[in-house]
Amino acid sequence: MTDNKIALVTGANKGIGKEIARQLSEAGYQVLLGSRDLGRGEEAAKDLAGTTAIQLEVTDPASVQAAADRIAAEYGRLDVLINNAAIIPVGDTAVSEVASDVLRDGFETNVIGLVAVTQAMLPLLRKAEQARVVNLSTGLASFTLVSDPDSPMSTMRIVGYNATKAAVNMVTVMLANELRDTGILVNAADPGNCATDMGGWDAARTPAQGAAVAVRLATLDTDGPTGQVHAEAGQLPW
Ligand SMILES: NC(=O)c1ccc[n+]([C@@H]2O[C@H](COP(=O)([O-])OP(=O)(O)OC[C@H]3O[C@@H](n4cnc5c(N)ncnc54)[C@H](OP(=O)(O)O)[C@@H]3O)[C@@H](O)[C@H]2O)c1
Repeated sequence: MTDNKIALVTGANKGIGKEIARQLSEAGYQVLLGSRDLGRGEEAAKDLAGTTAIQLEVTDPASVQAAADRIAAEYGRLDVLINNAAIIPVGDTAVSEVASDVLRDGFETNVIGLVAVTQAMLPLLRKAEQARVVNLSTGLASFTLVSDPDSPMSTMRIVGYNATKAAVNMVTVMLANELRDTGILVNAADPGNCATDMGGWDAARTPAQGAAVAVRLATLDTDGPTGQVHAEAGQLPW
């Protein structure tokens, strides 16, 4: 048992998720580093004091439930849930060409998996004093930005990613509404384009810079926003 706040980060064995885990552990949180491959999670946890790997495949209900059961048994509550795990599905492309299976893969991980993890963790979040939920989103899910022909966001042809993250935005707002009277704040974070396997290694921002946006939302005071999407510079338009 620990008096520290408990945080779970999904997909934390690498990339932005690993950096979120690092920054939360440096802020004094006991961090559960979710990884679908426990070995990769344990490898990542070795680099980060105050973190423990936990097996978590977001598309596998048994894995999600086992993670929730373990957190309940070991800590009895969850202060922070960061839904970070996501994919750009293999074969993702323009709306005119995308295969149904590609769309299905994207929704399975990025939306259905995220909701399943959130549902499993909600009883534990409700037991924390002022829990926070942060869903990783992107400017590519912003209707305002993607519908602006002058924005670089309008040129990306990956509907299996963009549409799933737009759905994540809606899930964020709806959960924030549902939990408005509980003190649990639910927001989405746009890390910006960061150098990771997903973002491309030539991206301008570091994973640590991207992680900081999510960490800010995970550590909001009681008067912080809920049901919003934020990037480094502040609130993003939907
Ligand atoms: N990088 C960017 O430029 C950027 C920009 C905007 C938003 N984002 C968002 O930021 C988040 C992190 O992105 P990233 O760049 O760090 O990506 P990444 O380097 O590709 O890492 C993704 C993480 O998610 C995990 N994951 C994927 N599918 C999973 C599943 N079914 N169950 C459990 N874990 C799963 C991966 O595990 P494995 O190692 O096992 O594959 C990995 O740990 C994502 O939500 C992404 O959409 C990223």
